[in-house]
Amino acid sequence: MTHPLRIALIGAGIMGRQHQQHLQRLDEARLCAVSDPNPQAAEFAAACGVPYFADHRQMLEQVRPAAAIVANPNTLHVSTALDCIAAGAAVLLEKPVAVHPDEVRELLAASERSGVPVLVGHHRRHNPLIARAHELLSAGALGRLTTVTALWQVQKPDSYFDIPWRREAGAGMLLTNLVHDLDLLRYLCGEVRQVQAFTSNGVRGFANEDSVAVLLQFHNGALGSLTGSDAVAAPWSWELDSGENPVYPRQADQPCYLLAGTRGALSIPQLQRWHYAEPGAGWHQPLLQSEEAFSREEALRRQLQHFVQVARGAVAPLVGAADAGRTLALIDAIRQAAESGRTCAPQVI
Ligand SMILES: NC(=O)c1ccc[n+]([C@@H]2O[C@H](COP(=O)([O-])OP(=O)(O)OC[C@H]3O[C@@H](n4cnc5c(N)ncnc54)[C@H](O)[C@@H]3O)[C@@H](O)[C@H]2O)c1
Repeated sequence: MTHPLRIALIGAGIMGRQHQQHLQRLDEARLCAVSDPNPQAAEFAAACGVPYFADHRQMLEQVRPAAAIVANPNTLHVSTALDCIAAGAAVLLEKPVAVHPDEVRELLAASERSGVPVLVGHHRRHNPLIARAHELLSAGALGRLTTVTALWQVQKPDSYFDIPWRREAGAGMLLTNLVHDLDLLRYLCGEVRQVQAFTSNGVRGFANEDSVAVLLQFHNGALGSLTGSDAVAAPWSWELDSGENPVYPRQADQPCYLLAGTRGALSIPQLQRWHYAEPGAGWHQPLLQSEEAFSREEALRRQLQHFVQVARGAVAPLVGAADAGRTLALIDAIRQAAESGRTCAPQVI
């Protein structure tokens, strides 16, 4: 029998503890250490029955984990992942993969040189409903994808910003939240050729944006818009609509992505489909509606199971550093477009 994979947790904040909750229910892996400079993490490590380290380098040296989950602040992602790679530990690196595209090149080079894999935590791709949407789009169920409307409109409580790094450069809703939506738009609709964008910090007044409006042109010719804000009392976001995370009361009937093509349309997360009985019948005919079935497995659990396979060398990462780097490059293009007022193309990593 294969022994459970020994996984260390680096960064035991909100996200790190969520990973641990799923990890403790897996047979094929077990937590072997916790590393986090915050002394409260020592109590958490003790409760988990594993050794605690303030410094992850010391942990890597002494514990020699087979793999590590890195869930520390965004600006530390790449340096921490490089330390893990140097210690031979496969990495599940929380999103965003990095803060600057240049860091991704360094990470990719280290992973390729050493053969130590990196899986980036774009966990929504592991959600069965996204897998089903991807199948439908790849099979041409909507005909030629033409327009894409994405919404991320929520109100984070003011207390969310009590943690200083969340107000500083390197955080912000584009990198912290819309990174997920942009990753899914790339995954479902294809690569983005160019963007135009406006951002605003008019509500909260922090260094980072609290609202954005983005226009997207995809390489396949589809056109899209993404409007987002973390400062509005509204029900349209993956978090509230998908029911993926029970900490957010669900708005099950509200969509966050609307995809339309020449032969049909799809709403996500409901996976409601619309089409005409006769293709091309047009607006005087009734639209037929149906709902796609999909399994309700938890995305974070599925991601961890996949990570175990990645760390054992059995499968390639579903979202590797290069792939996640393209989402980061898209965010970079959005920022440049908003700052310059020009149309910008994502750079190739
Ligand atoms: N996949 C998702 O849906 C999702 C959701 C939330 C957060 N995240 C990501 O997870 C990461 C953590 O976010 P969070 O909301 O849990 O933040 P958090 O502030 O709650 O936790 C971060 C933790 O990292 C610790 N830390 C700081 N420096 C460290 C270091 N050098 N080594 C190890 N630990 C260190 C902090 O003490 C803290 O406990 C971020 O990158 C964020 O983007 C992902």
